[in-house]
Amino acid sequence: MINTFDIYQNPSLYDDQYWWKRDDIEFYKKIIPSNSKVLELGSGTGRLGVPLLRNDVEYFGLELSKEFCNYTRSKLLNKEHQKQIIHGDMTSFKIDHKFDYIFVAFNTFLHLLTNDKAAQCFQCVKSHLSDNGIFILDIVHPHPSFLFKSNNKPELVMDFKDSTNDDIVEIYEYCEYNHETEICDIIWEYRYQKHVDSSKQFKYQMRMYYPDTINRLLIDNGFYIDEVYGDYDMNRFKEHSQLQIYKAI
Ligand SMILES: C[S@@+](CC[C@H](N)C(=O)[O-])C[C@H]1O[C@@H](n2cnc3c(N)ncnc32)[C@H](O)[C@@H]1O
Repeated sequence: MINTFDIYQNPSLYDDQYWWKRDDIEFYKKIIPSNSKVLELGSGTGRLGVPLLRNDVEYFGLELSKEFCNYTRSKLLNKEHQKQIIHGDMTSFKIDHKFDYIFVAFNTFLHLLTNDKAAQCFQCVKSHLSDNGIFILDIVHPHPSFLFKSNNKPELVMDFKDSTNDDIVEIYEYCEYNHETEICDIIWEYRYQKHVDSSKQFKYQMRMYYPDTINRLLIDNGFYIDEVYGDYDMNRFKEHSQLQIYKAI
């Protein structure tokens, strides 16, 4: 039987797996000016935090996984920066600071499976933004093909090298979409090429948020939507955009 594991307890594997994810770094560097005070929700392993700190942004990260928090702190030399990586839940946090920018990147928000959880997060964001503070929410725009996803057909979604054993790993995805709840049940099967015994599964769920839902939730929670981009080049969101990136005040 194949082992199950949690990628969010394996920070170095997470960094190996997402070696290719760089397309959003320039976007955040451009939209968030140096010297501003910033909070990232679900800050992961510091993939975006490290380049923003290098850009003289006063960066704070809030992260649910203790392993990820410790790993991020170990990447940061400055003690003040280390203290600014905070263990917490983006639906119920209280930090003694107000921020010029708060952002949720790379589909992290899709871990909130219900409108209630989304609203709780938005309320926390609202109460931590300074006057004229800006909230940036970056999630995928659900593609109609999701509606036809079925568990039976695994798809190769990415491959990477595991730096602990130098083996190539392919990730095959099984995905079942529930139309009522708009939640995808996902299994990622990590297939090791040489170390076959290391193969394992990560099971998780993601909520597909459609633009009308996000618009309503943001407005109901007191935000004004200033811009919606459809990509990291800041082109306006359109019907066929792959991303929905909200800039709300
Ligand atoms: C897709 S990863 C993105 C990590 C990082 N933002 C990046 O761009 O590489 C999602 C992250 O959100 C964290 N996470 C999930 N639910 C959370 C919650 N309720 N509160 C805070 N962090 C959460 C996970 O532990 C994980 O680190």
